[in-house]
Amino acid sequence: MSLELDRTFSIAPMLDWTDRHYRYFARLMSSKALLYTEMVTTGAILHGRGDYLAYNREEHPLALQLGGSNPEDLAKCAALAAQRGYDEVNLNVGCPSDRVQNGRFGACLMAESALVAECVDAMKQVVDIPVTVKTRIGIDEQDSYEFLTDFIDTVQAKGCSAFTIHARKAWLQGLSPKENREIPPLDYARVYRLKQDYPGLNISLNGGITSLEQAKTHLTHLDGVMVGREAYQNPYMLAEVDSRLCGLTAPALSREEVIDKMLPYIEAHLATGGRLNHITRHIIGLFQGLPGSRGWRRYLSENAHRPGADTRVVLQALQTMQAGI
Ligand SMILES: Cc1cc2nc3c(=O)[nH]c(=O)nc-3n(C[C@H](O)[C@H](O)[C@H](O)COP(=O)(O)O)c2cc1C
Repeated sequence: MSLELDRTFSIAPMLDWTDRHYRYFARLMSSKALLYTEMVTTGAILHGRGDYLAYNREEHPLALQLGGSNPEDLAKCAALAAQRGYDEVNLNVGCPSDRVQNGRFGACLMAESALVAECVDAMKQVVDIPVTVKTRIGIDEQDSYEFLTDFIDTVQAKGCSAFTIHARKAWLQGLSPKENREIPPLDYARVYRLKQDYPGLNISLNGGITSLEQAKTHLTHLDGVMVGREAYQNPYMLAEVDSRLCGLTAPALSREEVIDKMLPYIEAHLATGGRLNHITRHIIGLFQGLPGSRGWRRYLSENAHRPGADTRVVLQALQTMQAGI
């Protein structure tokens, strides 16, 4: 099943950032990018009050990223995800935050490959959609290539055939999650080597990719690339994903057309009691690098949170930018 999804380019799961509003917005710019939800814990899904699995149908192809390490709970959540139409379930084995470690999941699970394999197995037993793993190249002092391949061997033996590898290790103590995305050095060569040694696995590279040019280079070694922060902070990079990486020829929407398509979405959100800034916070980077983009940003940040703010604020921000104010 896993081969049915095109994993050439994916947008990384990012807590608080890749919510369904961002994903709807991202999908307007790329029809091919595989989108990931933020990490959702099994506890939230099984015992929380809200509907943590809600999404817009336009978001497909869409993967649910789960945080957890109890095989039974993960299986229940994977089954719910499949029922709700998700295209993939992904297990988070890369997050180093203290909270996540206290729950015994995320990156610390790299040291418990047998448990990860059991989790994958439990999920695979109950769903037909792909079950994948996002991990790092190591944790703490356990950062040898052999440590990584031991982990991959154990997990693939239970049927995981697609891995996304954040090409840096995590320090479980002493660094914040943010520092753990910046300080441990990137080692792309290690991920390339992994693909060479496991040609039958689908391997995507994550970490530090800031342009489609770089993505293209990585794709000469690997099956896929996953982009996080750049896809969020400079989202219009997504407009060239279909044509430059995925061989599609349909022209991308212009930035203004993207806004145009967001307006009815925003209106529908406001009509159900949502606030404008729930959505505008994700589109603030759309004009990144263009003259006037500061005006756009500033207008939105100063006005979108005000009570009663609606799509007129977005149109006004556009005008402010175009007028170079
Ligand atoms: C705000 C933020 C939240 C993140 N949340 C998650 C998460 O929920 N699950 C996960 O696997 N990784 C999470 N990450 C890590 C990213 O998925 C990705 O691995 C990391 O940012 C490196 O990729 P990049 O250099 O392209 O940003 C998060 C990163 C950021 C910046």
